[in-house]
Amino acid sequence: MMACVTSVAAAGRSDPRARPIGVFDSGVGGLTVLHELLVALPHEDFLYLGDTGRFPYGERSAQELTRFAVEIAEELLRRRVKLLVVACNSATAAALPALARRMMQTTLGVDVLGVVRPEALRAVAATRTGRIGLLATPTTVASGAYEEAVRTVDPHVTLHPVACPTLAPIIQAGGQFDARAVATVREACAPLRDARVDTVILGCTHYPLIQPMLQRMLGPAVTLVSSGAALARQVEHALSTRALSNPRTGDGELGEGEYRFLCTGDVEAFRELGTRFLQMPLGEVERVQLAAAEAIA
Ligand code: DGL
Repeated sequence: MMACVTSVAAAGRSDPRARPIGVFDSGVGGLTVLHELLVALPHEDFLYLGDTGRFPYGERSAQELTRFAVEIAEELLRRRVKLLVVACNSATAAALPALARRMMQTTLGVDVLGVVRPEALRAVAATRTGRIGLLATPTTVASGAYEEAVRTVDPHVTLHPVACPTLAPIIQAGGQFDARAVATVREACAPLRDARVDTVILGCTHYPLIQPMLQRMLGPAVTLVSSGAALARQVEHALSTRALSNPRTGDGELGEGEYRFLCTGDVEAFRELGTRFLQMPLGEVERVQLAAAEAIA
């Protein structure tokens, strides 16, 4: 377990403000989002669940991802989280509305935030030409969630989506970029260059890890938008408007929250990969068995 727990104990877990924020993803990719949350909200506690046993999510159906998301959310609710963050683009795109409805029916009535809307808002604010690119998994592209989010903010903006079926697994596989990996990234960038987009949404949690390569291939004038920072601001807003911000005073180390990890696959593999994605020390990782969810309406 990381950091100091003194003020949590003092505030008491019965105080809803002292509960952790639940964050989940298909695996370790969401740690790039958690990284931003830890930086922006150092006084909060976080409980992260990586569904590594079922990674990848990127080509699964909306129905399957909704079931997975509900199973994970119910596990996190059992552990008394005060807010749920879906730090996975595929799960957000395919399952967020159904998951949010389901969570509002629980006795705790926990709010659910996803990565699509904050990223879309940022991209629309950043574009000068009205041409935005999207790099994402096939499930995310097929959902049309980014098109809808962009259209809601500005119907005059055009989104150019590119589905990348192998990119997340390639990034996850390791640090060495062989010729095949570089060719895959180049191939993903080509249609965006042709479309002369000036802003590109990194619509998958893994892509911030190859941001320098993407920037080089797309050109320095293109603005890259990733979900972490935009989402962190939305989480901050949600907590303060619901009077759920952790009451830690923030004086030096005592103001730091704790963060813990759950995963559905191999704990050692999570620890090894996780450090690279989180770019911070990883503490306690616990293997968890999820209970099957009832059929989702
Ligand atoms: N977290 C997933 C996403 O953002 C990574 C890719 C996958 O699981 O296929 O879509």
